[in-house]
Amino acid sequence: MTDRIMMAPSILSADFTRLADVVALAESAGADLIHVDVMDGHFVPNLTIGPPVIRALKQVATRPLDVHLMIDNASTTVEWYLDAGADWVTVHVEACHHLPRMVQHIHASGARAGMAISPGTSAMALEEVIADLDLVLVMSVYPGFGGQSFIPETTPKITELTGMIAASGSHALIEVDGGIDETTASLVAAAGARILVAGNAIFGREDPVAALQAIREAGEFGMSRR
Ligand code: DX5
Ligand code: ZN
Repeated sequence: MTDRIMMAPSILSADFTRLADVVALAESAGADLIHVDVMDGHFVPNLTIGPPVIRALKQVATRPLDVHLMIDNASTTVEWYLDAGADWVTVHVEACHHLPRMVQHIHASGARAGMAISPGTSAMALEEVIADLDLVLVMSVYPGFGGQSFIPETTPKITELTGMIAASGSHALIEVDGGIDETTASLVAAAGARILVAGNAIFGREDPVAALQAIREAGEFGMSRR
């Protein structure tokens, strides 16, 4: 695993009529992961994409698919996303009743397992499984939509999770998602984030390649200030 900041551009803010081109563009900019936001219209008030689109993305992506499940019934449907080709699968703790079982299930299929916490959820909600996770996703906006403003009160949770990960001997990486741009990237990376998700600040810009690289540089500057 690299010690550099990893970039996971979120295709939610991209042009859905040209997803293959979007993935190629993100990869040409140096994306480490392709972040895919699955929303069910229940856990969050928005409905996005499901397994068929993930299966299609898998045909064109050369980087791993980082699938962020914002869904209520992951225990019964996570299989669909694993079968479709998700490489990293992240489930929200707020929507999951048996965390260790979910982590084991994802690992048994060969995928990497992540757990996400929304802004109102404490870092301690992850205590039971943190040692076994590959990824901890800290939401820095309320999940559901791209283009929202970063919530600064979520940053201390990144610091807290950095300590919990070290204390438990976990190899989990901290990913931060929501309102990440050239300014906030540096703040969250200084607190311990290693993977940065960005949608609007990449695909909403005239030059998405330059934007992705600028966010990574800001993150690496933040990392150097730890
Ligand atoms: C929000 C999603 C995010 C979203 C981020 O619920 O999980 O991945 O696409 O978008 P920006 O970077 O625009 O906040
Ligand atoms: Zn996301």
